Amino acid sequence: MNIRRMTLDDLAQVIEIDKVSFSLPWPERSFRFEITDNPASRAWVAELNGKVVGAIVAWLLVDEAHIATIATHPDFRRRGIASKLLSHALRMMMNEGALTSVLEVRESNSAAQEMYRKFGFEESGRRPRYYRDNSEDAILMSLYKLEGLKVES
Ligand SMILES: CC(C)(COP(=O)(O)OP(=O)(O)OC[C@H]1O[C@@H](n2cnc3c(N)ncnc32)[C@H](O)[C@@H]1OP(=O)(O)O)[C@@H](O)C(=O)NCCC(=O)NCCS
Repeated sequence: MNIRRMTLDDLAQVIEIDKVSFSLPWPERSFRFEITDNPASRAWVAELNGKVVGAIVAWLLVDEAHIATIATHPDFRRRGIASKLLSHALRMMMNEGALTSVLEVRESNSAAQEMYRKFGFEESGRRPRYYRDNSEDAILMSLYKLEGLKVES
């Protein structure tokens, strides 16, 4: 499996993964903006045999790496793909000065929370009724010391 920066050529596959992974998928223009216009954005895809099987978008905000979205195609889950993407993204942003990382996750999304805990993220807050489709709370998770990153790439 290869991890590389996301380009506009990946858009169709990334959008497909996003659609089948989230109840509120991002519109195409959001991914386009992240790839072409947002100076804070860092985006990567995981590629297997020429097919995009996972994607991550993060924002590097001074010394904080904010994970904006991450998903693996349902046919390729539980093979370590999201972990590799997250590990790669965090390490690349550490190289650019990130010291901490933060993200929001649905309260009901125990799979993702489990993965984040393995990286050392811990619950640091809650945004009540954050998700507009079902008014679910977002759990804020933080990794305070990227330096001691628990999961190897
Ligand atoms: C969450 C998600 C990104 C994980 O992707 P993945 O490629 O399957 O993740 P990995 O194989 O790297 O899993 C890493 C660890 O996360 C945990 N995990 C992943 N899926 C899990 C599940 N369905 N149930 C319980 N734990 C799970 C496990 O601890 C797993 O390690 P293990 O397989 O050794 O037990 C994927 O399920 C997904 O795309 N979900 C929909 C989108 C989403 O929820 N994104 C996160 C938004 S905050």
